[in-house]
Amino acid sequence: MTANNAAQIAPDAKTSTGASLAERTASAQKFWGDYFGFYDILNQAAPYRNMIEGHVEMLDPKEGEQVLDAGCGTGNVSVELIKRKPNLIGVDFVESALDVCREKVPQAEYRFANLRLPLEFADATFDKIACCVVLQFMDQGAAEFAVRQFYRVVKPGGRVTLTVFVKGFNRRAVLFGTFRGLYQNGGVIGLLRFLFTNMMVTARVMSYVKELKNLEETGEHVFYSREEFEALATQAGFVVKGMEKTFADQSLTVLLEKPAGPAAAG
Ligand SMILES: C[S@@+](CC[C@H](N)C(=O)[O-])C[C@H]1O[C@@H](n2cnc3c(N)ncnc32)[C@H](O)[C@@H]1O
Repeated sequence: MTANNAAQIAPDAKTSTGASLAERTASAQKFWGDYFGFYDILNQAAPYRNMIEGHVEMLDPKEGEQVLDAGCGTGNVSVELIKRKPNLIGVDFVESALDVCREKVPQAEYRFANLRLPLEFADATFDKIACCVVLQFMDQGAAEFAVRQFYRVVKPGGRVTLTVFVKGFNRRAVLFGTFRGLYQNGGVIGLLRFLFTNMMVTARVMSYVKELKNLEETGEHVFYSREEFEALATQAGFVVKGMEKTFADQSLTVLLEKPAGPAAAG
């Protein structure tokens, strides 16, 4: 880390709740810790699986590359990344999630990190960085700060994939996409079996997602239009190499590259 970067942290946001940054951080960590008790039911949802797999495919990590999974949660992106045999490090600010990751992907290393703070990695450490559905759960200043940190720790010529929820995010579209996928894979019986077994947990996921969306109104979370997402990436210096809709069209995934040469100075 350069001395310059070490001195910076993400600015505190003006939100409408009046809660301090410390209170908001503690509340977010508790929220995620609770949600992770049943989060992995999402692995049965086609829109989520397509998003995770598409995210990793777009990043295209290669064997032996240094790869960071930023905001790794319960490790669902890591599970896909590790199939391609990179040297993988995951970071998140929920300790219990890191423990789940260590069980799921013992080949990787997992560390605590709050993405509002400078990452504890030297400049140009990583070939590639994956950050899937994390940045929209931060305020604007924190998301911009995190993307600048990704720029700093990725190598010139290195690549980054970001996925965020779209502005106007519609959780019902994801639910219907999930039902469609279940029907396509298992017919009516498959769909009914899922509903019978997982009705309660599905309702809980929907209510947690509603809470995440409610925080968009307070300014704690920021969902993105295509143009805003592009602006978030390019303010750090990245070049956009591709963008696509994912998660039943309720998220955007972008592939970024840090220019090689003099323009890459972070
Ligand atoms: C929806 S989950 C995504 C997890 C994983 N990337 C996936 O795709 O399943 C959002 C993740 O962002 C993490 N997160 C949110 N704010 C963070 C912050 N300030 N620092 C580190 N991690 C954060 C949460 O702990 C959670 O693991």
